[in-house]
Amino acid sequence: MGHGIGQVAAAAGYQVTIRDIAQDYIDNGLKGITGSLNRLVSRERMSQEQMDEILGRITFTTDLKEAVGDAQLVIEAIPEIMELKHKVWKEVDEIAQKDAILASNTSSLSISEMAEAVSNPERFIGMHFFNPPAIMKLVEVNQGEKTSEETVKTVMDIALNMGKTPVWVKKDAPGFIVNRILVTYLNEAAKLLDEYDMEQIDAAMQHKAGMPLGPFMLSDLIGLDIVYNILKTFEEHLGEEYTPHPRITELYESKKLGRKTGEGFYSYADRPSVTEAQAEGFNVVKLLEPFVQEAEKVLKEAIATAEDIDTAIKLGGNIPRGPFEMKESGLGVEKPVLMEKKDGVLIITINRPSKLNSMTLEMLDLISQYLEEAKRDSDTKAVLFKGAGDRAFCAGADITQFPTLTTIGARKVTETGHRAFSKILEVQKPVIAAINGYCLGGGNELIQFCDFRLASEKARFSQPEVSLGLIPGWGGTYMLPKLVGLTAAMDLILTGRRIDAEEAKNIGLVTHVYPVEEFDAKVDEFVKTLVEGPPISIRAMKKLVTNDPDMKEALRAEAEAFADLWNYGDLKEGIAAFGERRKPDFKGN
Ligand code: COA
Repeated sequence: MGHGIGQVAAAAGYQVTIRDIAQDYIDNGLKGITGSLNRLVSRERMSQEQMDEILGRITFTTDLKEAVGDAQLVIEAIPEIMELKHKVWKEVDEIAQKDAILASNTSSLSISEMAEAVSNPERFIGMHFFNPPAIMKLVEVNQGEKTSEETVKTVMDIALNMGKTPVWVKKDAPGFIVNRILVTYLNEAAKLLDEYDMEQIDAAMQHKAGMPLGPFMLSDLIGLDIVYNILKTFEEHLGEEYTPHPRITELYESKKLGRKTGEGFYSYADRPSVTEAQAEGFNVVKLLEPFVQEAEKVLKEAIATAEDIDTAIKLGGNIPRGPFEMKESGLGVEKPVLMEKKDGVLIITINRPSKLNSMTLEMLDLISQYLEEAKRDSDTKAVLFKGAGDRAFCAGADITQFPTLTTIGARKVTETGHRAFSKILEVQKPVIAAINGYCLGGGNELIQFCDFRLASEKARFSQPEVSLGLIPGWGGTYMLPKLVGLTAAMDLILTGRRIDAEEAKNIGLVTHVYPVEEFDAKVDEFVKTLVEGPPISIRAMKKLVTNDPDMKEALRAEAEAFADLWNYGDLKEGIAAFGERRKPDFKGN
């Protein structure tokens, strides 16, 4: 059994014997497991007693008979060479209990072919843990031609007992689910290199499609040898469309295998990274389409259900949405507000950077919808608002919609904002705004409803409505004085003056200010502390601190005053002046 898998099984309460071929490997394995458990103890995620218990359940040996003789489940994790697997499984078959389940942790070889080595193929199965097994939740449970359904069920149950999420791979297919879809996608990305730059594709997939890494950085991380060899297997079994792209073959042959050799698609002499701006000109649909198509093939070939495919891709690829979920929500129609869940945080990104993330009614509705999800989802421990791009958190309501409105339409604008932002208070979990640039008008009102406002040094704040002949209409006339007091609120609202992050902190608008280069890391650190906090007392404190019986009436009055402005001409003049980049000439009528 692999050492990491042994640790997971022992942690779940199973008696484990780990067999390795030499004492050196055993010593290293024990060191690895002890180190990993020690880290959990030092972070107070586990007591010393629990650690000792887990270690007490693990025996190491070099003797195969000692390891396998009494075992009810044997998990093999030796190198991925079929002859070697056959040799070891033949030996195991002779000494194992006749009713023991025999499982291979293979990520790429045929379970049916491997099962030829044993006398009891109904009890032979694939149990593919993802690396590192102590952290990754996914286990692909791979059924060979002769594997019985009872064996599948038992192994699925064991994986669940180990705290894992098993998916049922019903057919012995190359690459099972995750490698089949992900590695094919990496090859499809390489096929686009004639038309697009590598950095452009990586930037788009990372910043606009929600992938944790772009396809070329991911290839480098996995290793070009692994990517190449998996594609060769696909080519052999599935056809020429899977032939490794010449660029992958070239890197493989020149031993530029990615991070582990210091060079692959990228050079790792310095840490490569891509910015959102580099994504310009690449439509993520170009790659998401083949990604989804491959998932559809896996479904059509009856390898797994759509639900299991989505689960496998999300957990195995660390991708926020599975291919069928992506398809359902509309491929590549980029949403102006994005939502993703990561490490207990529901992240809402205002995603209209070309218009400085200014906000339309559609965007407010999306925010409402995501906040409803945050309320409902018990895995969400905190909500984080961000602005896409590096210029603005949000430059307020989309002004272009204003001139054509009637008073009724204006009322709808203000009430939709009130409804969306009030939901921030209804979420019984901390809501944090990370402000990286302009935070104006409606953007500045959004943050006023949040529990924490974290600003980068380059953040700028204002309520500029006065310069447009408007008033704040998304709660600012009420929330801002509550936060900063009457004096500062009057100054900001009636002059429209723009203030920097330091001043915003001094008047009590902002919780913390961080240097630009440390901003993302500091925000993550801050949010993590909240995620790890006690949910029940946090819920109670938020409710008590934000309790405000007067709010409803105040927002109603604001909505009325906002809509009334459409009965006068100053507003049209203000907006026209903004468009023409001139000073407005207000007449007071
Ligand atoms: N509504 C609609 N579009 C907006 C917007 C808003 N609130 N704020 C910015 N934009 C658009 C601009 O019109 C411009 O679009 P274009 O490229 O199609 O012309 C784009 O975002 C970039 O803004 P731009 O004004 O060119 O950038 P800048 O660096 O010169 O100025 C600001 C930045 C934030 C100072 C300026 O855009 C601004 O004052 N925006 C309005 C803020 C405001 O009054 N908000 C309250 C609304 S109630």
